[in-house]
Amino acid sequence: MKEFNSSRFAVIADIHSNSDALKAVLEDISAQAIDSIVNLGDHLSGPMAAKETADLLLPLDMPSIRGNHDRWLVETPREEMNSIDGVAFDQLEDHHLTWLRNLSPSLWLSDDIFACHGTPNSDMTYWTEAVSPAGEIVLRSRDEIVSEACDIKASLLLCGHTHIPRRIDLPDGRLILNPGSVGCPGYMDDNPVHHVVETGTYAACYAVVERTKAGWMSTFRHVPYDPSRMIELAKAANHPQWVPRLATGWVS
Ligand SMILES: [Fe+2]
Repeated sequence: MKEFNSSRFAVIADIHSNSDALKAVLEDISAQAIDSIVNLGDHLSGPMAAKETADLLLPLDMPSIRGNHDRWLVETPREEMNSIDGVAFDQLEDHHLTWLRNLSPSLWLSDDIFACHGTPNSDMTYWTEAVSPAGEIVLRSRDEIVSEACDIKASLLLCGHTHIPRRIDLPDGRLILNPGSVGCPGYMDDNPVHHVVETGTYAACYAVVERTKAGWMSTFRHVPYDPSRMIELAKAANHPQWVPRLATGWVS
């Protein structure tokens, strides 16, 4: 793995097998002459192009962590997988699964940059959002967000998983940054109760982070791309419910 430039880099997450969104994001990163990328997980699960996505990612050899879906892809028996993990699994070859299996659930990119998928202790927990009993997505309280940061002594704490781009500056100066989702701008989930996450845009999302004398500067980038091939793949995989989310960022 080449040396990571911890002063200026891109943060990507939640690609979910959308290889065309990933290509658009990689081109945009390259156009800005950014040579370091960290990838926060949920790379391959989705009813589109898991193998293509893996074949793009593996040669890039970027620091990457394991999301909950990545964990399920390598830990769950095929017959017990949820349907989108199953579509992805059936496309993957042994070396793709070996790559997933070797990913760590969190990592340090430098002595002051920590990265995880959900929270430092869980790949399933939304760090900065909560789901109300009625299924609404709300901002968590500041105390709850701070308590999830534990005593991690990093000035920059990176997370993904919610697919919602978000920056939260903690009272002690630490920064939590979620770059949003490269390939899945809306989804439904039944944990802890039924809820919908919708960003309202089809665009592929990621973040650029830069160290400045005043602190971390962050920029969210929404990259337009043509989702039509991914939509056709989702339909062909018998997941028509992915059509509106890929086309618009709305679930319905
Ligand atoms: Fe996730």
